[in-house]
Amino acid sequence: MIGTLSSSAPLAIVSAMQEELRAVLQLMPDEQRVVRAGREFWVGRLHGREVVVVLSRIGKVAAATTATALIEHFGVAAVLFTGAAGGLASGVAVGDLVVADGFLQHDMDASPLFPRFQVPLYGLDRFATDASLTTRLVDAATAVAADAPRLIGATTLREFNIEAPALHRGLIISGDRFVATGAESAALRELLPQALAVEMEGAAVAQVCHDYGLPFAALRVISDRADDDAHGDFLRFMREVASRYSAAIVARFLATG
Ligand code: ADE
Repeated sequence: MIGTLSSSAPLAIVSAMQEELRAVLQLMPDEQRVVRAGREFWVGRLHGREVVVVLSRIGKVAAATTATALIEHFGVAAVLFTGAAGGLASGVAVGDLVVADGFLQHDMDASPLFPRFQVPLYGLDRFATDASLTTRLVDAATAVAADAPRLIGATTLREFNIEAPALHRGLIISGDRFVATGAESAALRELLPQALAVEMEGAAVAQVCHDYGLPFAALRVISDRADDDAHGDFLRFMREVASRYSAAIVARFLATG
């Protein structure tokens, strides 16, 4: 059972990064590859649960297409998203985990026709995640964060200056831009002080799930502070830290459902 759902339809697991996808696929004994909309979907079982695993691709339009294909072709019951994000709020550090309770597109601006950030014709600027799936995701992430030294290794944690990873829950913002200057992240902080982190896909998937009435939950591992150092050693971070967190959290999320 997923959260409050009793459906036997599969759960979608959407990874933003190839490394995460690989780590999740390693946990699946019997996946089958299905190609739709130019994407590879992996259909199989994880912890005894039917799942469809896919790479979101990068940016809002690509992620929206992936989400729509998951719903239209695979009839998924809910969507769980994992990926990396830049930390925005003070106290959201590299290596921390952020579970979204809502998403906003920071580059949506149809003013003066509609208020800034509002998605035209929805009357909304934020799309909420599903409360019960999100609580389950927080529980899974809390348990995995506590296990970080064993999962990631003390040496790797030290190399990335990660102390005890903290878990945050709140607003994540999305836009079609990798935020990689201190000036831009300061401007976003000023405009959207509640935003914990910034990435490039979550708000699009949240909007598609809203359109179809599907529960959605999302987790992001903080890979950078969205500042001038944001390019960092991104791929190594994804391979050695973020993908291990994501796969462990997905496994725990499913095991406790
Ligand atoms: N994903 C990870 N870091 C990011 C950043 N700084 N901006 C946008 N998306 C990201």
